[in-house]
Amino acid sequence: MMVHPTIYSRVLGTGSYLPPTRVTNQALAERLAQQGVETSDEWIVARTGIRARYFASPEQATSDLALVAAQRAIAAAGIDLQAIELIIVATSTPDFVFPSTACLLQDKLGIRNGGAAFDVQAVCSGFAYALAVADGLIRSGAHRNALVIGAETFSRLLDFKDRTTCVLFGDGAGAVVLGASDQPGLLASALHADGSHAHILCTPGNINGGVIQGSAFLHMDGPAVFKLAVNVLEKVALEALAKAGMSADQIDWLIPHQANIRIMQGTCRKLGLPSERMIVTVGEHGNTSAASIPLALDVAVRDGRIKPGDRVLIEGVGGGFTWGAAVIRM
Ligand SMILES: CC(C)(COP(=O)(O)OP(=O)(O)OC[C@H]1O[C@@H](n2cnc3c(N)ncnc32)[C@H](O)[C@@H]1OP(=O)(O)O)[C@@H](O)C(=O)NCCC(=O)NCCS
Repeated sequence: MMVHPTIYSRVLGTGSYLPPTRVTNQALAERLAQQGVETSDEWIVARTGIRARYFASPEQATSDLALVAAQRAIAAAGIDLQAIELIIVATSTPDFVFPSTACLLQDKLGIRNGGAAFDVQAVCSGFAYALAVADGLIRSGAHRNALVIGAETFSRLLDFKDRTTCVLFGDGAGAVVLGASDQPGLLASALHADGSHAHILCTPGNINGGVIQGSAFLHMDGPAVFKLAVNVLEKVALEALAKAGMSADQIDWLIPHQANIRIMQGTCRKLGLPSERMIVTVGEHGNTSAASIPLALDVAVRDGRIKPGDRVLIEGVGGGFTWGAAVIRM
């Protein structure tokens, strides 16, 4: 791809959406107890930092969550809807096998300009992947702007008889509008994958002849994921910083993928950043996979912590295994 030297991508606006049903640890523990599954608010908070999560209503699909987040980001960007040339949705819980959630979203938004739309599947690293792809397409001159979304209904993959996974995840969506600029916004990104770890976090099912083959539930080896996550997150964060020509102390805000407060604190410490510079939403949202980073970004933009000009480091890790980071000047 030829990269035009004077075109960069910048964040023009952010938005997010959480579905209406807030489920506290206590409420979840009571629901699980009815099925003979034992857990507690104390265990979940101590091991993960999660206090609550949001679950989509039965009639809400991932594209519905994405729709509201997208509308809020478009309004914040002040961009004409019909001018959106590219939609990328990062999700592992698409509405359908096909068409892509991005195409369904384009229709729900009412965009009729024939712009491009596709999904990116990199599980919890999905937003970092989608952002890097959108940045590349804008910098190449192929598109002047992009709507980049992380949206998930992970509650649909949860086995509520498996206490090691069902307490961790939630639903939601976060979005950014990127636009071409002569000033750098996305300063650097780094993406990686190692498929040999596919089995430690997966939903190993597919559809064949109208029947689900394998398992349609999320499976995870929590301790193995924990170890891998801590290791790769520090490395990829340092890699993205080096590409941006920056050191960690030049970062105003760290937005890690919101999976587990212990993993997040570990990375923050390793980077030598004070914990006050880390945006934390895991307690209130749980792990919303590809949605977690743009959700946290939007929360911090709207509450006034993240301001124009601030330098933000995002980093994610997830199934695949995949991991990625980006340095953004807001
Ligand atoms: C899942 C995770 C919280 C488990 O914490 P942990 O400290 O590793 O705990 P372990 O898996 O070793 O389990 C410890 C005990 O708690 C029990 N336990 C597991 N889930 C429980 C729950 N929800 N409630 C109560 N007890 C639970 C286990 O059965 C085990 O009991 P045992 O010692 O009697 O066998 C942790 O491994 C983790 O966060 N991993 C990363 C997950 C993640 O971030 N995934 C997404 C990446 S994108």
